[in-house]
Amino acid sequence: MASVPSLASTVQQRLADALSAALPEAGSTDPLLRRSDRADFQANGILALAKKLKGNPRELATKVTDALDAGDVLKDVEVSGPGFLNITLTDKAITETLAARAADDRLGVPLKEKPGVTVVDYAQPNVAKEMHVGHLRSAVIGDALRGMLDFTGERTIGRHHIGDWGTQFGMLIQYLIENPGELAPADEVDGEQAMSNLNRVYKASRAVFDSDEEFKERARKRVVALQSGDKETLELWQQFVDESKVYFYSVFEKLDMEVRDEEIVGESAYNDLMPETARLLEESGVAVRSEGALVVFFDEIRGKDDQPVPLIVQKADGGFGYAASDLSAIRDRVGDLHATSLIYVVDVRQSLHFKMVFETARRAGWLGDEVTAHNMGYGTVLGADGKPFKTREGETVKLEDLLDEAVERATAVVREKAEKVGLTEEEIVENGRYVGIGAVKYADLSTSANRDYKFDLDQMVSLNGDTSVYLQYAYARIKSILRKAGDARPTAHPELELAPAERALGLHLDAFGELVYEASAEYAPHKLAAYLYQLASLYTTFYDQCPVLKAEAAEQVENRLFLCDLTARTLHQGMALLGIRTPERL
Ligand code: ARG
Repeated sequence: MASVPSLASTVQQRLADALSAALPEAGSTDPLLRRSDRADFQANGILALAKKLKGNPRELATKVTDALDAGDVLKDVEVSGPGFLNITLTDKAITETLAARAADDRLGVPLKEKPGVTVVDYAQPNVAKEMHVGHLRSAVIGDALRGMLDFTGERTIGRHHIGDWGTQFGMLIQYLIENPGELAPADEVDGEQAMSNLNRVYKASRAVFDSDEEFKERARKRVVALQSGDKETLELWQQFVDESKVYFYSVFEKLDMEVRDEEIVGESAYNDLMPETARLLEESGVAVRSEGALVVFFDEIRGKDDQPVPLIVQKADGGFGYAASDLSAIRDRVGDLHATSLIYVVDVRQSLHFKMVFETARRAGWLGDEVTAHNMGYGTVLGADGKPFKTREGETVKLEDLLDEAVERATAVVREKAEKVGLTEEEIVENGRYVGIGAVKYADLSTSANRDYKFDLDQMVSLNGDTSVYLQYAYARIKSILRKAGDARPTAHPELELAPAERALGLHLDAFGELVYEASAEYAPHKLAAYLYQLASLYTTFYDQCPVLKAEAAEQVENRLFLCDLTARTLHQGMALLGIRTPERL
């Protein structure tokens, strides 16, 4: 494992050295390097510096250029415009750097020197309820964030804070006591049966609850029994949880996503901590009693009529709710899991809740300056018509139906080309699944998370445009070229001159590691998606302009195969971080 400094960082370093050699009075200056169309890079930092030193920027730029150590890396540095530097690298430096990347399993991407522990709260459906498209976003985004963070060497711990506690369980359990056998044992059902059983019990119990006052009273007492840990009640509660998990797992499997049982730690898991959480908040004065309830007030947070909105830690009847479980979870995650970052991938509509929870935890000293907490609030999933995603009848769309439909459409797309590629029926089915699920994930990930996004299956499985299918086809096309290469092996030839399309592709390949670091630090999977899309586009241009197997010299063929191979590996790695498969033949 050898980490490879990017060309951008090498150039940056040389410029910084030249700046301090030529202008020692300036102190350290950021050369402000960026990729450029005119040359390989452009440095804009001298302009601001000249202002500071009251000098002529073009003169300063020339001084810096004279002090630059060009070595084998810089081919040409030209002062342009009011005082920019246009920098062109040698072809040799590009190919050699890429060769060093190709020699490394991690494509030369370094591991963090001081990794932290990030707890990612994501994929948190609710027990006895159907998962909806919002839960899909949380699962897909959270999984991608973990993939990216893990790749940098950060340690991530998942927490699926499922909704497995609350007053509705009184009703459900009481119903089951009075109608035993309505839920088949969890180990006898598949995901679909589990959900349909749960739905049936939910609807039936709701109907009795709404129409029968005496049942309502029994259900209320059942909540008390549950909270006080009554054994029979807990056993029945567990049955609801187990049955729901069968269903959750079937959906996660469909999503091609690994979820570990020990990371399913729902609201109920913090039950034992909640009384203490409340006591500590009350004793420290962070929370106060108001009309019997224990609440936290915030000056800066106000609701309708400018009334302060409190966070309710404990209700007047003594019950604990959502806030108490989240506050207790913070104590657990920081105190016991030693998290240095907390991230919550939860619908943006809960952002006020998290704002209040984080602020309370800070006041209580559970969240110190050294721990960051961030609610990555995602927007609403809209239908192709731009309205919140509903069926024509106005019901929320079942997540599974949606996934099934995506796979169905993708399979049709795959099938169309299957004969030409020579795919077996088995491969068509498998690829259809990877393409369909990939399409759903990518559409979600390529939009910045806080924006609403349109769930438009036609667009998602399109072969053109910014879709996962386009990326998957680019990958498969490269693999097919590599298979057809016969005896020619991908081999770097640093002595060869590079065509413009090769340089552009090469420089982009070289930027992969830095991009992953940036995207994970900003919790921005859409940046990785955009990088990959651009990679595929640059590859397409390269492929159009530079014959690979039909190149003139044998070295040229090898060097282009080498670029193909590194592109494929980078695409594969990047897609894998996002949780998307790249079939070898498509
Ligand atoms: N179960 C909740 C819902 O479906 C999401 C839980 C989010 N996580 C948390 N720590 N509150 O809306």
